[in-house]
Formats: sequence, structure tokens, C-alpha cells
Amino acid sequence: MSEVVTRERHDGIAIVTVDSPPVNALSAAVRRGILENVNAAVADPEVQAIVLTCAGRTFIAGADITEFGKPPQPPALNDVIAALENSPKPTIAAIHGTALGGGLEVALGCHFRVAVKEAKLGLPEVKLGLLPGAGGTQRLPRAVGPELAVQMIVGGNPIGAAEALKHGLISEIVEGPASGGEAFARKVLAEKLPARRLRDDDSKLAAARADRSIFTNAVAAMTKKARGLEAPFACADAIGAAIDLPFEEGLKKEREGFMKLVVSDQSKAQRYAFFAEREAAKVDGVPDGTKPRPVSRVAIIGAGTMGGGIAMSFANAGIPVTLIETGKEQLDRGMGIMQKNYEATAARGGIPADAPAKRMGLITGMVGLDNVKDADLIIEAVFETMAVKKEVFTALDAYAKPGAVLASNTSYLNVDDIAATTKRPQDVLGMHFFSPANVMKLCEIVRGAKTAPDALLTAVSIAKKIAKVPVVVGVCDGFVGNRMLAARSKQSEKLLFEGAPPQQVDAVVTKFGMPMGPFAMGDLAGLDIGWRSRKDRGIKSEIADALCEAGRFGQKTGKGYYKYEAGSRSPLPDPEVETLINDTLTKLGLKRREVSDEEILERMMYPMINEGARILEENIAARPSDIDVVWLYGYGWPIYRGGPMHYADGVGLKHIAERLSYYAKATNDPSLEPSPLLKKLAAEGKTFASLGQPNKAAA
Ligand code: 3HC
Ligand code: NAI
Repeated sequence: MSEVVTRERHDGIAIVTVDSPPVNALSAAVRRGILENVNAAVADPEVQAIVLTCAGRTFIAGADITEFGKPPQPPALNDVIAALENSPKPTIAAIHGTALGGGLEVALGCHFRVAVKEAKLGLPEVKLGLLPGAGGTQRLPRAVGPELAVQMIVGGNPIGAAEALKHGLISEIVEGPASGGEAFARKVLAEKLPARRLRDDDSKLAAARADRSIFTNAVAAMTKKARGLEAPFACADAIGAAIDLPFEEGLKKEREGFMKLVVSDQSKAQRYAFFAEREAAKVDGVPDGTKPRPVSRVAIIGAGTMGGGIAMSFANAGIPVTLIETGKEQLDRGMGIMQKNYEATAARGGIPADAPAKRMGLITGMVGLDNVKDADLIIEAVFETMAVKKEVFTALDAYAKPGAVLASNTSYLNVDDIAATTKRPQDVLGMHFFSPANVMKLCEIVRGAKTAPDALLTAVSIAKKIAKVPVVVGVCDGFVGNRMLAARSKQSEKLLFEGAPPQQVDAVVTKFGMPMGPFAMGDLAGLDIGWRSRKDRGIKSEIADALCEAGRFGQKTGKGYYKYEAGSRSPLPDPEVETLINDTLTKLGLKRREVSDEEILERMMYPMINEGARILEENIAARPSDIDVVWLYGYGWPIYRGGPMHYADGVGLKHIAERLSYYAKATNDPSLEPSPLLKKLAAEGKTFASLGQPNKAAA
């Protein structure tokens, strides 16, 4: 018998316990263990009912993702589930933590399910580019009806125990999983509750069978934001099969769909991203046993765009913050914007009606930097000027208590130079949030030359607490994300001068799956910012300058690279811009040429990848997958393409290096020559992934 699954008998009830840390995933050993123990319990004449439960922090959290892509090992999960479903003795799943994916499918094979009140139940396979492959698409609609099943399977979000009870997914909410499961088993026996085999129970499908629009409307609502993704539609097809076909045939359809997705590039990319995110949270070069410093009080300096968003992120996680400004007027403005933002979200139903007041109650506004005295963590988000940053950090050094972590949200500035203005550079680092900071999940944690390991871990740990995805990066201009973005911006600007109109460039980038193209993004951020900075540095960018000189600052003035109708954020191509570009090029003596979409895509992506390779050479990022996490969570890189470095591996580094060399010559731009690392990998026929991690993602 397997060690990861054990069996006890308590007075006629067999308790089968899975104990396979960390999350009781359904490895071959776990599958075998459950099957053997359930068969043994069925064969044991003393046993009258079987409870399946888990040790540790959670019920089974799904199939073992590390096994995907490897040769399948028996027994198949469907056979394990069939044993539970076909058992002549009642089977009961007793759930705590998260019953996810294959874990919930195992529970759906049981005749009854009970759960503790904190438990969550879901089929999140779609988030890995998959569909539930062990009967979930057939049994869940039978358990809860097709509408909720579509929400759970196509949307991939779990539901809580109370909702599960309401919809008949569980029979009871219990105190403890094992004890509650056992007590419920006794009730089943005493009250002779009939075993409900979901495969045989079509009652909840009747309505959708009579009127298929119940199902198709639910699918339409859930796939609205699924642009470019394959899995949500495959999930919907499989649920459709539950409605249209007998159980066994539906199961077969589901299996076919799963087998197709599991080998797809999209699912491989999404599984890669799952492990990349978890790998990014592991910090290299920190001595074993290092612990983060305790943080109970947080102060944020600056209540502008970023300071406000960061304060909201803390309040959303229930952590009180002090928000500090230079004057009452600035403070009131910042507090007002947050209040309005919360109210708008509540009005849309995004948060409960009492949330705005509760969350604003966690944010205390103050004037004057001496108010940081009690804070364990201070995040500075003032203007992006070194002189202002230095002034603020000198004051923080004077007021902050010893051991407080001092973080800057700077986008580009040198964190070591900021640290040097204090007598405690070991406590200083960057916490670079992305706009809008209450929404975007990425936080680049910038490790300075002198940052202490425990200070670094403090920032990583607090970022996770406020539901951000932390990635540790080194000091350089723009860190990982903005540095790579700059490589792309240089090309998008050059493409304009060569003849590609802004809408063509943007269309190529959005078709690839990015949420916005570079020019629409410029219009959103405001073109005047770059214009002012160019003027300060004595730099010219004739087309962008001409736009600004014509008062076209982007969305805020209703026109930029595009025009915008009043109240709309939709970019519309503008003939005036076309004329302005033509006039500027004529003035410069440049001739426009047709630029192909293929060239645009290569020149948008490959220079960024090249910059990523330089970032690795310089050790600014610890691993290629960290760069991918930055792009997935900071810039909306499409999850089904895994991130720029993963994408590059798929295209082939040899091809990318060749094209970069070609463009370096064709456009007379030596900065496009492939970096030494890219050249080396290309010559050796290797991938970025060969440099290591996240090694769990099956190829
Ligand atoms: N398979 C293999 N490893 C897994 C895993 C899985 N399904 N789920 C989590 N892990 C690993 C993680 O990689 C991590 O390993 P590490 O410590 O070495 O980095 C460890 O378990 C802990 O994971 P988290 O850091 O994510 O722990 P949390 O407590 O924050 O979250 C969780 C726990 C909610 C269970 C989260 O891990 C999760 O969402 N897991 C994935 C769930 C999932 O997608 N299940 C469906 C799988 S596909 C499937 O079941 C197909 C079936 O239909 C046939
Ligand atoms: P902002 O101009 O909206 O806000 C800055 C705020 O800081 C202002 O309200 C100002 O009154 C306040 N401030 C200035 N000096 C202060 C002092 N001594 N004490 C207290 N408050 C002071 O600027 P924004 O956009 O919020 O940027 C802040 C920082 O975040 C900058 O370093 C910027 O580079 C960075 N950042 C900005 C992003 C963006 O998209 N806006 C994205 C990521 C980082």
C-alpha cells in the first residue's frame, strides 16, 4: 500500500486520508493509493461507508501539473473516480482548503460531499489552458446546473462553501474535515440517504436541454474577455456535450478536448507561467534561515497617482496605512480620488456597498514626513526627480525608526544613489509598482548593492500579502520592464519615420495579444510628459514633437496619435495625423515605404527579447522566467504566449538572432545586434529555458 494515502477504520467507517504535501496533488502514487484503499475498503466486510479526506493545508488541489507532457502512469484518474462512484458503499468527500481541478473531480465522483466553511471548490483548469479532464465538465453541470458550471469552468474561479451548499455541490458545512466527514457518514447510514451518482442524475440538465439558450447565454457572458484564448471555448464545448449527449459520450468528448489542449502551445505557456510566478517569489542569494522583518505599520509618501493606488492595495488587503503629503490640499485631492474610485467600483458591483467606507477607514492622511516614526515599512512615491527623492530619503533617515524598510517606487532612478543619502543603505530598496497600482499585480523589488537580505524578504513578503506578484530585480535604468519597453519604443518611433502609420503598428501589437499598442499607450499616458523630458535633455523626436506643438497630448486633450470622441477612450485614426507625419517626413527629406506586418512584429518583439538577454547577462534578473513574469503581470503580455523569453524560445533563438543582425544593418542601428548571450545560445541551438527554471513546467 502507498505511503501517501492511508486508511483507518472507525467503527464501520473507513477514513481514507491523502497526505502528499504541499497540496496533495494527484501524482501517480496518490492515484494508486486512493484506488487501492477504496478497493480494500469496499472489500472489507466491516466497512459500511468510505470517507475520503486529506491531511495538511488542503484537500486535493488538482492533477499533478508536473506530470503533464510526460508518459502517463497508471492508474488513470478516471478509473480512480469510477471506483469511488461505483462503490456499493456510500462514499463521502470531506473537504478543507481548496478542492481544485482533479481534486474537485474526485469529490464529484463521491456520492456525497461535505466541506468546512472556509473551503473553496473550483475547476481552474482553464487558467492552465486546459479543460477539466476527469469528468468535471460532465459531473459539475449535473451537480449545480449548466449556468453555474459554465461560470466555474469557463471562468475558472472557485466558489466558497456557503455557495456550494446553496447550489447542492455539497450536502453540509462541517466543523473539521475528517471528523465532520465521519459524522456525516454515520448520518448517511442512519438515515439511509440514497447514494447520488452524478453520472446517472440528469435532473439539473433538463431546463437547458429544453432551452439551449440558457447555456449559450452563459457561455457568451463568460467568453467576452477570452480574446485569443483556446481553452475557454473548449471548456464550453465540453459542457455543451454534457447537455447534448449521454454521460459516457460526453466523457469521451471531454477526454478528446483535454488531450488536444494538454499538448497545445497555449497550455504549455500557461503552465509555464504558473510555475514561473511561483519561482519568481524565491529569492536567490539570501542565506538560509533569513526571515522577513515584522511589518505592522506602513507609511506611504505621496498621495498622487501611484501613492494613492499603493495605499488602496494595502487597504484592499485589510492593512492600515498612513498616507503622507506635503500639504492639506494635495492630501485632500488624493483622498478624494481614492474615495471616488472605490465608490465607482462599488456602484459597478465590484466590491460590497460598505467596502468604500471600510477601506477608506484604513487609510489615514497626514501632512509632514515626521509622521513616519512608527512605520515598519515606508514606501516613497513622490515626483520622479533625484533631487526630490534625495531630500525625502534624507528626511526619512532622520525620522524613521531603526530597522524600518525604506522603499522607493521610482520607475528609472538609481536606488543605490537614493540609498547613499541615508546612513542605513542596508534598509533601502525599490518597490516598483505599476499603474494603476491598485489593479496591476506586478511589483519589481529592486535590490540595491547594499540591501540587506532580510529587508529584501520583507518587501517580497509584504508584496505577496497585498496580492501582488513580486519579482526581484537589480539596479539599472528602468529595471527589467521599462528597460525592455524602451527598446520597443525606440523601434515603434523609428517605424513611424520609415512609413508605418501608428494604427498599423498598434494593430500588429494588439493582434499579437497585448492589450494596447505603443501609440495608443502613449496617448493614454500623455504625450506631453515625454515632450517635456526631451526638451529638458535637448533631444528631438520630430513627429511626437509636432503632435505636442499642435496641442495633441493624447486622451487628455481628445487627440494625440489618434482622435477621441468626447467621453470615449477608443482611438480613431486621424487624417490630420497622417498629414502631419507626411509633412514632417517631407521636411526631413525622408521617404515613406510600405512596412509589412511581419517586419513590424519582429521589430516590436525581437529588440525587447535582445534587451532581456542583456538583462540576464548583467544579472539584473535572476532567470528568464522572472522576465516573463514581469511582462505577464506588469504589461498585460498574453498569458497564452508565456512571456517574451518563453515566446522567443518557441520562435527559435537562431532565427531571432539572424533577424536582429539583419535589422541592425538594414536600419543602420548597431544597438539591434544580438547580445553576446543571445548569440551564444543561438549558435549552440539552445533556449533561454536551458539557462534554468522554472524547471517544473513540463516541456
Ligand atoms: N501540481 C503540482 N504542483 C502544484 C500544484 C499542482 N496541481 N498546485 C500547487 N503546486 C505546488 C506549487 O508549484 C508550489 O510548489 P513550490 O513550493 O515548490 O513552489 C506548492 O505546490 C505550493 O503552491 P502555492 O505556492 O501556489 O501555494 P498556495 O497555498 O499559495 O496556493 C493552491 C495553493 C491554491 C492550491 C495553488 O497552488 C493552486 O492554485 N494550484 C493549482 C490548482 C490547479 O490549477 N489545479 C488544477 C490542475 S489541472 C487538473 O487538475 C486537470 C484535471 O482536470 C485532469
Ligand atoms: P504624482 O505626481 O501623481 O504624485 C506625486 C505626489 O507626491 C504628489 O501628490 C506630490 O504632492 C507628492 N509629494 C512630492 N513631494 C513630496 C514630499 N516631500 N512629501 C510628501 N509628498 C510629496 O506622481 P506619480 O505618477 O504618482 O509618481 C510617483 C512615483 O512613482 C514616481 O517616482 C514615478 O516615477 C513612479 N511611478 C509612476 C508610474 C505612473 O505610471 N505614474 C508607474 C510606476 C512608478
